[in-house]
Amino acid sequence: RSLHSAVSRGSSHLARRGYSSESTPERKVVVLGAAGGIGQPLSLLMKLNPLVSSLSLYDIAGTPGVAADVSHVNTRSEVVGYQGEGELGKALEGADVVIIPAGVPRKPGMTRDDLFNINAGIVKSLCTAISKYCPKALVNMISNPVNSTVPIAAEVFKKAGTYDEKRLFGVTTLDVVRAKTFYAGKAKVPVAEVNVPVIGGHAGITILPLFSQATPQANLDHDVIVALTKRTQDGGTEVVEAKAGKGSATLSMAYAGALFADACLKGLNGVPDVVECSFVQSNVTELPFFASKVRLGKNGVEEVLGLGSLSDFEKEGLEKLKPELLSSIEKGIKFANQ
Ligand code: NAI
Repeated sequence: RSLHSAVSRGSSHLARRGYSSESTPERKVVVLGAAGGIGQPLSLLMKLNPLVSSLSLYDIAGTPGVAADVSHVNTRSEVVGYQGEGELGKALEGADVVIIPAGVPRKPGMTRDDLFNINAGIVKSLCTAISKYCPKALVNMISNPVNSTVPIAAEVFKKAGTYDEKRLFGVTTLDVVRAKTFYAGKAKVPVAEVNVPVIGGHAGITILPLFSQATPQANLDHDVIVALTKRTQDGGTEVVEAKAGKGSATLSMAYAGALFADACLKGLNGVPDVVECSFVQSNVTELPFFASKVRLGKNGVEEVLGLGSLSDFEKEGLEKLKPELLSSIEKGIKFANQ
């Protein structure tokens, strides 16, 4: 017991130190697409993060207003807004983490793949600028279809000679957030204690929540697991339909994006055992990119963790998602090289 209390004393001491600006390293976070539906609340949430010292908000339009507004919040970071391509370099210079929610969202009836043509071009040009102005930054890709935009980013960085697979992340945190929320509701356990890994990709059936590994454990019936899986896979569509033409998930996505960026910052700052699910370059399956649990560290990905044991239902889901995920990955690679 004495060891335990020594450890908990030590960690609460560390936690206190972590929140004082004197002992926290300077970190610049950039939001590309900061004036958008996700970008605005995400910018606010990053302004609330004590690990951020400099918050750079970039968009093709509307950033001066967002930056002025967010800058009045009395927290640590200095906020600067940048508008238009001419200011993109300044926005990116010195970045530790670049979060990309730039692009168009889905409307009812659209799949994430329908966004491909517009968003692929936006991501390609933003990543070209990243390779020039902040090649060492951790890139958090939110723009959809993530299953293709992450491979596009990788190809752009490879061409520029700056690719580091440890620094490129597809943000799938919203799938995890949804899986946790929906599971807690059915399992009747406190949501704050729930953990559910989500693997695969970030679209439809490529999203595979592993409820067999969910904690706290609950003995849910198979048909409940099937329904929870489907609801997690269709979570984005649930919001798109409810918004009825006014866009896709923005508030919950901003929350999820802020969680993932915070995990990246903690990793960079040397906090041990920071583990999040993310869509990254991977050897866990035969696919070149795959979402699974990832340990974050001072250089980004420290370790891509394995899938653990899967139920038969999950094994089946894994085999079913592979062809679709591979074709989205290949589509991204092809676009980047054309
Ligand atoms: P939005 O249309 O409200 O905002 C997008 C912003 O991007 C706009 O302010 C626009 O001016 C800006 N933008 C466009 N071209 C740009 C460029 N070249 N450089 C910088 N900024 C540019 O869209 P919303 O709802 O914020 O969604 C953004 C993206 O995030 C979409 O692709 C959407 O599908 C994706 N998304 C991803 C999720 C995920 O879980 N990874 C969840 C929800 C949405």
